[in-house]
Amino acid sequence: MNQRLPVSIFGATGQVGRHLAAMLATHPRFSIGQLVGSPASVGQDYQAVWEDKESTLAAHYGAWYPALPYPPSISSHIVVGHSDIPDGALVVSSVPERAGPDEDRLVAQKCTVISNSPYRRMDPTLPLDIPGIPSTLTGTYVKIPNCATIGLALALHPINSLLTNIPISVCTYQSLSGRGDARYPRELAIGNVFPLRHSSEDTETRIQSELKRILPDLSVSVSCYRTPTPVGHLIDVSLFHQGRLSVDALLTQWGTHIAQGNSCGIDVTHADQHPQSLPDSAIDQGMTVVIGNIADHPDAGIIRFTVVINNLIRGAAGSLILALNSLENHI
Ligand SMILES: NC(=O)c1ccc[n+]([C@@H]2O[C@H](COP(=O)([O-])OP(=O)(O)OC[C@H]3O[C@@H](n4cnc5c(N)ncnc54)[C@H](OP(=O)(O)O)[C@@H]3O)[C@@H](O)[C@H]2O)c1
Repeated sequence: MNQRLPVSIFGATGQVGRHLAAMLATHPRFSIGQLVGSPASVGQDYQAVWEDKESTLAAHYGAWYPALPYPPSISSHIVVGHSDIPDGALVVSSVPERAGPDEDRLVAQKCTVISNSPYRRMDPTLPLDIPGIPSTLTGTYVKIPNCATIGLALALHPINSLLTNIPISVCTYQSLSGRGDARYPRELAIGNVFPLRHSSEDTETRIQSELKRILPDLSVSVSCYRTPTPVGHLIDVSLFHQGRLSVDALLTQWGTHIAQGNSCGIDVTHADQHPQSLPDSAIDQGMTVVIGNIADHPDAGIIRFTVVINNLIRGAAGSLILALNSLENHI
């Protein structure tokens, strides 16, 4: 008898949703429930939608943009609409903000919804959770932050107690998959790096305000750039400590957290020219956030380091599944 709990995916046809389906297909305690898309996909064969979206992305950006093959572990499914999710279902949601009000309808249907949609992410009545950072995860409607916020918060949380009154400057170099299937024009995206400020993406504001909810004592300034890499967000962090911090103190704090069973999901690399967005975002199947490239600039009173997070896995699908794991223990 199959004892695995079925989990419906709202946004299953999207870039994050496809990773969610792949992870649920082989999960020991959960299985795939309803696979939900927008009205444009409803009624279609899931595999056909998946392969069409992957090949469209690869054709748009070029062969260097790898397609995610349809996993044989996912059986045949027809894409359904959100109204086909049964009352009381467990749901993971990864939809754009405009589809967010349907999450409210699912909650009204007594579903448990864990979502990384920007919709209501800053609503103080809803928990904003990052698996790996201790929280009292409760409720039937839980939000997960933006992918870059997750990487940054996981790196800063272990050293938080050292950062009182230390201004922090953050610069993100975000991959093209961070925008899902909403493809950038080729002339903008290929062989080019561009700032996201004053674009339709309010990433900088999101990272800043979400981080404030999770680590409220930090003072952080954020700049975001889009880079022509398929996956992996690289984040450059500068701590303006003016002599009040040392690299050794940071390494001790991170080392202590890692020694506590790596449940915080970070690792520190001492390899030169690492972490890099592509290889380091693949470590531990995308679940580990890698910190490295640590530099002390005593004359300027600044310590800098680099963080890499797999935006699609630890920054999205993987964190949703981790939240599901911990919520399941409370339902
Ligand atoms: N990509 C990342 O690295 C990343 C990381 C963290 C968080 N996020 C967040 O995760 C969400 C999904 O991102 P993504 O990259 O997977 O985007 P995506 O590839 O564009 O997928 C969007 C998904 O939402 C569905 N959808 C769109 N409009 C809808 C509507 N009006 N009603 C119902 N469903 C609708 C789409 O269905 P169809 O396919 O049928 O159109 C698709 O399944 C976004 O909120 C994004 O901000 C993304």
